[in-house]
Amino acid sequence: MTTPKIIALAGSLRKDSFHQKLINEAARFALESGAEVEVIKLADLAIPMFDEDLEAQGTPAGVQQLKDKLRAADGILLASPEYNGSITAVLKNAIDWASRTEQGAEPAFANKVTALYAASPGGLGGLRGLNHVRDILSGIGSLVLANQLAVPAIHTLLDDNGRISDPATAEKVAGLAQQLVSVASKLK
Ligand SMILES: Cc1cc2nc3c(=O)[nH]c(=O)nc-3n(C[C@H](O)[C@H](O)[C@H](O)COP(=O)(O)O)c2cc1C
Repeated sequence: MTTPKIIALAGSLRKDSFHQKLINEAARFALESGAEVEVIKLADLAIPMFDEDLEAQGTPAGVQQLKDKLRAADGILLASPEYNGSITAVLKNAIDWASRTEQGAEPAFANKVTALYAASPGGLGGLRGLNHVRDILSGIGSLVLANQLAVPAIHTLLDDNGRISDPATAEKVAGLAQQLVSVASKLK
């Protein structure tokens, strides 16, 4: 297998974010499947609200880091919380910044195989938001896997170390991560 490079990120800034924990787990499974994996925390990148006037002054360092890492990656593990049935402002803002192309540069999301995850304390697991994320990423050239995972009642499924304590859920999280690694490897 050609070793694919995968980056993993979550669309929440919250210290105890369920999605950060979920994506850490997905990243661990991708690593076990033979990928090179880097977990990115959006909170560490301190990305400002997108503003074309601000952009005209130069790309913020955190945005440049995100774009560089996306461009170097073959695949993306992405966990997106659902706010009011849609994508979080934090994630959309990061995508908007990263979608901007410097002259001659490859669009950051182009041809990246992407696996979508969501979770929620509620019963639908953030499923409605994933439809919006899928639309946005497909529109900017990402190859979003048909399979996706929305995990309901996430607050009951993690242990004190942030690991998934429910075997059936762990299996589903691992299965999608493995598929991403397999497809990214084949396309590399
Ligand atoms: C403004 C707001 C809107 C929300 N809307 C939804 C929603 O539409 N569906 C849902 O399942 N949960 C909703 N939630 C609850 C989130 O699923 C919950 O806060 C979750 O923990 C967010 O992910 P995180 O833990 O990774 O930050 C909402 C929370 C906030 C703050």
